[in-house]
This record gives sequence, structure tokens and C-alpha cells, in this order.
Amino acid sequence: MTSAEASKRHAQLAEDIRRHDHAYYILAKPTISDGEYDRRLRELIDLETAHPELVTPDSPSRRVGGAPMDGFARVMHRIPMMSLENTYSADEVREFAARVQKAFPETALSWTIEPKIDGIAVSLRYERGVFVQGATRGDGAHGDDITANLDTVRNLPLKLAPGVPEVLEVRGEVYMPNAAFRKMNEERAAAGEELFVNPRNATAGSLKQLDPKVTATRRLAVVVYGLGEVVGAEPPPVQSGLLPWLESFGLPVPERVWTAGSTDEILESIDALDTARRGFGYDTDGAVVKLDPIALRAQLGVTSKAPRWAVAYKYAPEQAETRLRSITIQVGRTGALTPVAELEPVFVSGSTVSRATLHNEDEIRRKDIRVGDSVVIEKAGEVIPAVVRVALEKRVGSPKEFEFPKHCPECQTPVAKESTADGEGVVWRCPNSDCPAQIRGRLEHWCARGAMDIEGGGEALVAQLVGAGLVRDVAGLYDLTLDKLLGLQRMGEKSAQNFLDGLAASQSRELWRLLFGLGILHVGAGVAKALARAFPSLDEIADSTVERLLLVSDIGEVIARSVEGWFHDPVNRKLVKQLRAARLNFASTTYRAEDAVASGPFAGKTLVLTGTLPTMSREEAAALIERAGGKVGSSVSKKTHCVVAGSDAGSKLEKARTLGIAVIDEAELVRLTGVP
Ligand code: IVH
Repeated sequence: MTSAEASKRHAQLAEDIRRHDHAYYILAKPTISDGEYDRRLRELIDLETAHPELVTPDSPSRRVGGAPMDGFARVMHRIPMMSLENTYSADEVREFAARVQKAFPETALSWTIEPKIDGIAVSLRYERGVFVQGATRGDGAHGDDITANLDTVRNLPLKLAPGVPEVLEVRGEVYMPNAAFRKMNEERAAAGEELFVNPRNATAGSLKQLDPKVTATRRLAVVVYGLGEVVGAEPPPVQSGLLPWLESFGLPVPERVWTAGSTDEILESIDALDTARRGFGYDTDGAVVKLDPIALRAQLGVTSKAPRWAVAYKYAPEQAETRLRSITIQVGRTGALTPVAELEPVFVSGSTVSRATLHNEDEIRRKDIRVGDSVVIEKAGEVIPAVVRVALEKRVGSPKEFEFPKHCPECQTPVAKESTADGEGVVWRCPNSDCPAQIRGRLEHWCARGAMDIEGGGEALVAQLVGAGLVRDVAGLYDLTLDKLLGLQRMGEKSAQNFLDGLAASQSRELWRLLFGLGILHVGAGVAKALARAFPSLDEIADSTVERLLLVSDIGEVIARSVEGWFHDPVNRKLVKQLRAARLNFASTTYRAEDAVASGPFAGKTLVLTGTLPTMSREEAAALIERAGGKVGSSVSKKTHCVVAGSDAGSKLEKARTLGIAVIDEAELVRLTGVP
């Protein structure tokens, strides 16, 4: 391809991708499949690799996410990012409006009412129309530079329309649309990964990713509702004019806003928004009431955390009342007994609920929950509904208090009390590792898609295998034969053979899947992958010590102890031996000797020293950094992890500030190295 052809094709693709971004996010009408979109993006990136001169600052190639980062640089907010005062009742909203009116006794005030989007606050900086920096709120004065992650947010314009001010910093919210959240959690469940509790947590987790390519898969969106620094233009004088102004540059703004000329109208708008928000497709947790004329805001000023010219009104989470039919006990794969409320089905927040978790015995006692009670349940953005309280006024007679079983409902072994990981509550555990419920749980987990991915190994078959006494542990699966399987009820030859084929295929699965499948406490898929990268085979992991395990990045004390403990248990040692005999793959294909050890909190990081430290000499500080695994660099660059500054620091400190690199003092250095 000649360079002229390449340039033409590049322009076509860029235009095409921008149009699809717009169709997908702004119009909510995708015109091509995700696969087709990715192919065009790929072609664009390949072109840019072959012809680097085609890369522009606003190229859609930014969407796929750049190289992984070591950490986030700090960004100073030139205009602080504030939070909002919350109100929970009409009276509190009236008080707010009256307070503001008192400051302007002669003026007829007007207001805007906007959805309060339940996401993560961000600041976006555009210079000459190009998106140059995005940051989190942090403490309001400094946030994290998350530009590379925000680049992947597809409705965030990388370039604004002509006519935009020289510098335009906008404030807004990044969120995950409900559909994207559901899809992501389904995929995580299938992969055996931990689920996110709600879209807000998922957004926070996605923006904290050090690898922007991961963020790119999360389908986040952004909406803007306010200003930071503006240079070279006079913004509209009212909030209700500001939003269309921002929209005219191509920025996404709240899909509906209301204006009000009186307190009654504010309250009506809050109600109207409550109805409208149910159709929004993303979570909103309130209304934001803002004084419309922006010039008046300055006279009201701010408190330490929030402006006096705006307030948030928080809607109560949706609740429903229903009858508690019974309380059942679930025994998990680790033996933990969880009480579950079996409810008369009821519709709440978009779905029918018939079960809710009761967490543990304390929770039942604290809330005085009894079978037959009318209970109020709530889905506050959480996936699993919770029982909020009992409608005591509806209690009929005096139902018995629920008695937590003293024996495992599965195997009748007396249960043992343990405190929970956070030390807050207690959990009853069945101590019998041969408990059929635990055996079933371990087998199901082994066969799960995110673990060994064995087709047919679901709940039903596992229950049959354990019930018939054919299998007691995961190694036992590999002794199954066609004859044995055909002895089970309703088992056809075809499904039996499929399952055996699935088992055979599982023998060559990657090591991390096997590790995860073993169900070692605290070893999720992520930890299993980290272990498989750091050790050449299962045998090295099994023979490892806590001290050795701690050298692996991402592995802390709790995980290390759990892993060591598991492989020291004679029962597990025997299981490992049987799995070897069953010819399962113990070798790691992802092992990389150079990644194996990351020792110390500064492993792989370069720090720069500048100025005079209060107590330490330069040599002492350097030795401290090196002992913590870090290197001491002589000059500040983008790759510098942080700058340790003392008094009279000069140009290095200045450079760190312009590059947005974190600056710490001696005390912070000592703290970070973990020296006691
Ligand atoms: S105005 C100084 N408008 O809610 C004014 N905030 O609880 C600050 N939020 O920090 C914000 N939607 O992260 C504003 N339409 C909206 C909002 C909104 C969501 C968030 C924002 C803020 C938090 C306060």
C-alpha cells in the first residue's frame, strides 16, 4: 500500500469508527457487531503500526488501551473537585432552598434538577479540543491520572467539535450501564471469577485497572454535568444553558434535566425524575438540585466538602414486603452454613425475588426474623437481595425463634463456631470434610467452566455421582468408566461418553485451572494464574514455603498461609498424588523465570531523590529503597515511580509536578518500605 492509499484508508476507518461510537453510545443504536467493530479498529492499528505518521492525538486507536502502567501518577485539580451534601426528605430540600433564598431576598431564583448518576466522579481536560488528561476525584485536591483508562470509554470524545475553548475541563461521572454490568457478571460467573456487587463497584474496579486493555473490555460510559478550568471562552451564565453548550461540543450530558422556579416545582421535578429514572438503563441514586444562575453561586461559597448552591436528594432504595415461608441452610464447599430466607415470590427492582440471604445466625437474631413473618426486602443495587426488617405489626401470634441447627443438615456432624474473616460476626462450619454437601461443592467447582471446564459436570450429575457413592473427591472422577456411569439413573450412552470425553480433555488443561479447581481457600482464578506464572509446576508450589510464596507479586500473607497449609494436609497430599497418577497436567506453560520473584514493595520501580531529607543521608535513603527492591534513578522521567523530596528541592521536583508524578517525603518513604 502506498502511503497515500494508507492515509486515505486510515481516514476512512477513523471516520467509520467514530460514527459507530456515536451510533452505539449516543444514539443507543449499534449499526455493526462488536466483532466487526474490533476488526476495523484492528485494521486501523495495523495501519498506524506500518505508517506511524498517521497517528493523530485523537485517533480511535486510543480506544483499545495503551500499555500497562506501574501505578497512577497524581494530578492536581486546579479547581477542587467537591462532593455534595445529602438530603433525604422533602423538608430537608425545603430548608436548603430557603437557606439559599435568604442570601438573595430580592431575587426570584431558578433551579435545575439533574439525575444523580451512581458512578465514579472524573475530571476531563481538553486542550485545543483534544482530550489530554482524565483524573479521579481522589481527595478533591489531588486525584489519580487515569487518562489511559478513560481513553477506552467509547462515548468519551477524544476530540471535541470546532469552536471549543482553548482549555476546557469538565466534570462528570463514569458509570457502567446495567446491560453491560449484567453481561460482564454473567461472563465472570462462567469463568469462575468473583462477581461485582453492583455497577458502581464494577466501574470503580474497572477504572483502577493498571492495564487499560482490561478497562477497554468493560463498556463504561461517561456523562458530564459541570465545569473545571476554562480558558479562552465565557461559558453560559446558567446551568440549564451549560449542558446544551457542552453537548454542542460533542460531550454526553444527562439525558433529561428539569428546571424549577419554586420549591414546590423542585419537589415535583424530584418526583418526575424518580419515575423517569426507571427507564434510564443505568443506576441513579438521587436527584441533584442546583441553583441555576452560575454567577450567584460564588456569593454562597462552599463548606469544607460541598458547595452551598447545590444539594443531593437521595431516593430510598426500592423495597417490597413479602412472607417468609421458611429458613433453609445451605452448606457450601468450605463447609460454611448459610441461612437462606425462602420467600413468597415478589417483584422488586425489575426482577422476581424468592430467596434472600440471611448472612448468619447473628443477623437473624439481631433482626428478630421468624418463620411466617412479613419481611421487608430490599435490592439496593446489590445482586442478592437482603431482608431489611420484619414488619412486626403484622406478626401473627408468637412464632418460635429460629433455632440455628447444631448439626450439619447434610451429614449430621456437630457444627463448629468460627469468627468471620472481618472478625465482625460468627459463622458455623461443618468440620467434616467428607460431608456430601462439601464433596458435591468441590466437585462442581472442579468441573466449572472457569476451572477445569468439564462438560456435563453440573449440579445434577455431581449429585448422582456422590449419591451413588461412585466419587468422593476430584481424583475419583478419573476412575469413572462407561459401565459405572451407565449404572446411574437416566444416563444415556451419549451423555456418559460426552462426560468421559470432557474428563479426558481436562487432563491437559493449563496448570492455573487445576490450581483454581482445587478450591484452596483464597485462591481464586487471579491468584491461581499468578502462581502458575511464578512456578514451573505444581510440585514446586506444593513444596513451597510461606516465605517463598510471599515473593510472588499479588500474593500476601493470608493467601500464602492458606496455600502452604493446604499442601501440607496429608489428605490433600494424597489427592495430589492421585491426580498425578490420573495423568493430569502439572506443568506450567505460563511460567516466566524473570517474573517469578518480585521482592519488596518497590520491586521493579525507580525512585528519584531530591533535596535534603530531614534525618537521612542520601546514601541511607538509597540503601532503604534498594532493600525494598527498588532502584534509584538520577533523573525524572515518565517511568519514575515517585520522587522523594526534601527541603530545597529544585528542578527534579518541578519536573515531577509537570509530569504528574507522585512526590513523597522521607516519612512516607519509610512507611512505604514497610520498615517497622
Ligand atoms: S454536581 C460541586 N451533578 O455525586 C458539585 N454531581 O455525592 C459536585 N454526581 O461528587 C457535583 N451526578 O460524583 C453533580 N448531575 C450531577 C451528578 C453528580 C452524580 C456525583 C458526583 C458527586 C457526587 C456527590
